[in-house]
Amino acid sequence: MGLTLTPILAGFAARAAGIDLGQPLDGEQIASIDRAMDEHAVLVFRDQALTPDQQLRFARTFGELDLGFKKASKSATRLQYDELLDISNVAEDGQVADRNHRKIVGNLANQLWHSDSSFQAPAARYSMLHAVVLPAEGGETEFADMRAAYDALPEPRKQRLAGLSAEHYALHSRFLLGDTDYTEEQRRAIPSAVWPLVRRHAGSGRELLFIGAHACRVMELSLAEGRLLLMDLLEHATQPRFVYRHVWQPGDLVIWDNRSTLHRGRAFDLSVRRELRRTTTLDA
Ligand code: OGA
Ligand code: MN
Repeated sequence: MGLTLTPILAGFAARAAGIDLGQPLDGEQIASIDRAMDEHAVLVFRDQALTPDQQLRFARTFGELDLGFKKASKSATRLQYDELLDISNVAEDGQVADRNHRKIVGNLANQLWHSDSSFQAPAARYSMLHAVVLPAEGGETEFADMRAAYDALPEPRKQRLAGLSAEHYALHSRFLLGDTDYTEEQRRAIPSAVWPLVRRHAGSGRELLFIGAHACRVMELSLAEGRLLLMDLLEHATQPRFVYRHVWQPGDLVIWDNRSTLHRGRAFDLSVRRELRRTTTLDA
């Protein structure tokens, strides 16, 4: 059976079925997922009981894997593979982490609109997030369509954005949350990346806004003017009309295109277990 798609919103996000992601994929299945990603940008697969090895094999069929913030933080990890990112509030000992635990700030930073690893070159292409344990309330993930957001800008606004670029820095979202306990050396050890504010998607040819919580300044503007522009664009781009909110069920695997979307987690009770596992491919 081949991939079947049911659009969720007009032109953004689709329910996907017809492929068992736990099995090796053939060329046509891979191509059909790539095409679906180019069109819908977010795909929701349900009832995929993937082991870590199966999720990693699935992800690797789409390219080299990203280590994300792990490269920068070199924190202790709970899962057995570096490429399997532990998106959870669970500590190394398997218990729900104390809210003052180091990893919780990273968890909270995921609640700011962002594109995974936009602070590095190459940045991320696909993220695949697999739900394992979920709270009864809260903890949804929202996705915003940066193609539709760009299309909706007035023409003079689009023209003013042409030629502007932003610096994306890994620690900026941490600084925003007051997590500033890094030495000068640590701060400088993490290089940043500069990307145009408006980019063209390689697969669909559509233009889009490339912004989010890692973007800390606009190269061509003063710091203040640039930050206001970034805030203003983010406010525009994350209006409800551009947003799909995913309510998780265990066994869901959601794939999103980090080039054409922003995403954020939503708040949940930090004393309740929430456990997901992410694999991310590099846009290389
Ligand atoms: C991520 C992320 C949000 C969430 O895994 O990259 O941002 O809802 N997750 O956990
Ligand atoms: Mn993320």
